[in-house]
Formats: sequence, C-alpha cells, structure tokens
Amino acid sequence: EKAGYKHFMAKEVAEQPVVIADALKHYVKGGALNLPEGLDFSTVDRLSMVACGTASYATAVAKYWFEQLAHLPCDVDIASEFRYREPPLSTKGWAMFVSQSGETADTLAALRHAKEQVAKVVAVVNVPTSSIARESDLALPILAGVEVGVASTKAFTCQLTVLFLMALKAGLDRGRLTPAQVADHLSALNTLPGLMNHAMGLSAEIAGIAEKLAEAQDILFLGRGPMFPLAMEGALKLKEISYIHAEGYASGELKHGPIALIDNRVPVIVLAPRDALFEKTVSNMQEVMARHGKVLLISDAQGVAEAGKGCWKTVTLPAVAPILAPILYSVPAQLLAYHTAIAKGTDVDQPRNLAKSVTVE
Ligand code: F6R
Repeated sequence: EKAGYKHFMAKEVAEQPVVIADALKHYVKGGALNLPEGLDFSTVDRLSMVACGTASYATAVAKYWFEQLAHLPCDVDIASEFRYREPPLSTKGWAMFVSQSGETADTLAALRHAKEQVAKVVAVVNVPTSSIARESDLALPILAGVEVGVASTKAFTCQLTVLFLMALKAGLDRGRLTPAQVADHLSALNTLPGLMNHAMGLSAEIAGIAEKLAEAQDILFLGRGPMFPLAMEGALKLKEISYIHAEGYASGELKHGPIALIDNRVPVIVLAPRDALFEKTVSNMQEVMARHGKVLLISDAQGVAEAGKGCWKTVTLPAVAPILAPILYSVPAQLLAYHTAIAKGTDVDQPRNLAKSVTVE
C-alpha cells in the first residue's frame, strides 16, 4: 500500500507532481480553463472562504490570489470561529468551504450556517461523496487521490491548484484578466509538476538539515505575501508530526514582538523566493541574524546568491513564477517536517492526539 515508501506521508509528498498534473488535465482543456458551468463570478460581490487547519491555510493563500487576480473582496475564516461570530454575509456573495475529508464537523456546521444567507455555497473537497460536497450547490473535487497520512500534504497542494484556477476564472469573469493573461498563468502552472519533482530531489539534503532542527525547542517560519500562510502551514506540519513548538509569522511582523524569542538556539526558516518583496524579507532576516538566530533560507538560486551569506543553511529551489511559489515551496516545508519527525523517532503517519478526520466540534 505504501508502494515501497516507509510512510504514507512520504508516498503522498512524492505523489504531488502526478496528482497536480492530473488536476490540471481535468480542469484545463486546450490551454483554457475548463471549470464547472455554475462557476461564474461575474455577479459575486464577496467571497467568504471557510476551513480548518491546513485547508484554512490554503484559503489564506487563495485570498492573495483572488484579490490580486480578480480584485474580489475576500474573507477567510477558520470554521469554528466563523459560525459563532455571526459574520454579516452578502446575498450576492458566495461562501466557499475547503476540506480534504469533506466531513470536518466545524466546517460542515459553518456551511449549514451560511447556506441560507449567500447566493451560492461552493465546496472544494477531496472526497466527492462527502457531506460537505453533498450539501453545497457546487463541489469541485481536488483529485488528490486517497490521503492516508494524518498530516495533509498532497491535498494541500491540490487545494491550492484548484483555488488558483478558480481565482483565474474570477479574474476572467470580472474583467480583470484577459484570456491571454489566463493562458500565460496556465503555462506557468504547467511547469509546476516538473519543478516539484526537482524539489523532491532535495530530500536527502533536507534530511541532513532536519537532523539539526530535531534538537531545537522552538522554530519560527517567516514569509511575506502569499508565503505568509505557507509559513503557518510549515509550522503546523512540523509541530503536528515532530512535536517541536513552531510558529509561522509574517516576516514584517517579527519586529513587533516575536523577535524577543530569538537567540542562537532558535532556528528561523525563511521561505523567500526572489520576488518583489524579497529585499524587505532579507532585511527582516538580517534582524534575526544580528540576534544570533540560525537562519535557514529557502529561496531560488538568485535569492541564495544575493542573501545566503551569513545564513546557517540554505536550500535552493528552482525559480518559479512568484504567484505560484506557495505550491512549490510546500514541498521543502513538508520534507523538513517529515525528516525532523524521522530524526525524532515520532509516529509520522499517526501523530499522537490527532485523527485524520475531525468529526466533533
Ligand atoms: C494538518 C491537517 C489538519 C486538517 C484539518 C481539516 O496536517 O491535516 O489540520 O487540514 O483537520 O481537515 P479537512 O481538510 O478534512 O477538513
């Protein structure tokens, strides 16, 4: 069942290039978007995205995409807060629920709460027969295949892929993107499976770094823009399987408090492709180094050449369109968590206190 891998998680991380290519084959035809009929964003005035855990970080990345590509006002909420906060919803708005299992109790309760108040309820799920899929007006499968490891990996990157395609559709429907611009984004997206394969090849190098990370008590992840939610996802993945305390912060927020935590025992993992925000992130990174924090810079060749000096370690990924970087950079984040957990000897596929599907509120 594990197809020669030691753990389901390793198998599912490795499957990502293939399942993402499958999802693209399904939702892109002849170089154009091929999304379900009912997915027309032209009259939508607000998108409220709701999810838990890793799926909620996928929605947090997608917020950057919907805003940037479609200029669509967008809220993201964790399901257990959304419902009880009683947010005012728009009758012209859509509510979107993202869930691997489609059975998460908090997310399902939030869906039922929103249903009568919005124009359409959309679900993004891995299990197409699930309750969340059945109770929504429109359900898009992410086509990741069965995910067994408790730590979500391939479902996360497939969620991101489908959400990115939806943001492109929203951009098109709202007159913010031309078909030619969409086609450009789609060709960039088509390079992802190959780039992710390349990133998989860094596994042994990352395992070497993870042996050192396993000695840490606390680890920080930093990112800016759409890499900020990925920093939170990297921290979640690490804490849930290695039991090391980890937090993800927006790079620019470090100086407003968390920098007090930094000393020579705290590794700080900086997820920073060489994009428009890179220089700002580098200056945040230098603040960490000035306080003897151990920086692991994950960037591309240009980023590592410009800013790698003085870092504790660097990992060099292939260059990628900055808007798609959260999908590619998921791979080293997952591999760091995986190898750190292996170094600590924890149960990677079945971490303590956790269940694959959380069906209590
Ligand atoms: C973390 C993880 C959880 C789930 C969360 C939501 O690796 O797997 O945080 O993402 O419990 O589950 P779904 O997506 O099934 O609603």
